[in-house]
Amino acid sequence: MEVVICPDEAQVGAVAADRVIAQLEGKQTPVLGLATGSSPLNLYSELQRRAAAGDVDFSHALGFALDEYVGLDPEHPLSYRQTILRTVVKPLGMNAARVRVPNGFAADLQSAAEEYEDAMREAGGVDVQILGIGSNGHIGFNEPTSSFASRTRVKTLTQQTRDDNARFFEEGETVPTHCVTQGLGTIMDAHNLVMVASGEAKADIVAAMIEGPVSAMCPASILQFHRRAFVIIDEAAASKLQ
Ligand code: F6R
Repeated sequence: MEVVICPDEAQVGAVAADRVIAQLEGKQTPVLGLATGSSPLNLYSELQRRAAAGDVDFSHALGFALDEYVGLDPEHPLSYRQTILRTVVKPLGMNAARVRVPNGFAADLQSAAEEYEDAMREAGGVDVQILGIGSNGHIGFNEPTSSFASRTRVKTLTQQTRDDNARFFEEGETVPTHCVTQGLGTIMDAHNLVMVASGEAKADIVAAMIEGPVSAMCPASILQFHRRAFVIIDEAAASKLQ
């Protein structure tokens, strides 16, 4: 695991964009693993800027999102399908038809999850998986105690994650209780991992991920076992490192 500490959040986005672009260089059909949430927004803005400058072209890229809520209509503005379209696909000039999000609205969620795994395998695997970290150490929606060998499947969201994500929902709207998420085994199959984190609120969990024991109680700690995991954080998120 390589850890880069940047002075601020903007620099985190710039350094992460360098990493992402470097890993995609020379690929005819780059395959991007996409995270939602606040953490990668600077990275996406930076990638948008560089695509606009002609430094990189995402029009032929394939994309696979990490996760989706169960039971939320894919047209709902807060579904991860719509979030990914709005915050990544359109700004980066990706082709929406080439970007997949797990189907949380399927009649048979398990079969849909298996098809998702097949599609990732057929694409040749993910070249760069972009990740954020939840305040409880989740990546994707692999909450504490998730199996390190897990594949894409339905998971129950913890109350902490539902509370963390309530900020995106209107008052009175119920935050979904379940999700479909790529498993930890799925994420570990990506050829490169680029994790971004910033702010003091992430400092404890970032320290646990980087310096703590590898444990299912901190799912992100599995990144210690990935050969090409780049963790890019700002000084505030790094403040609890030894
Ligand atoms: C979202 C995802 C989650 C987030 C995590 C951090 O697709 O996979 O693991 O990365 O919940 O969220 P933020 O960045 O909003 O703090």
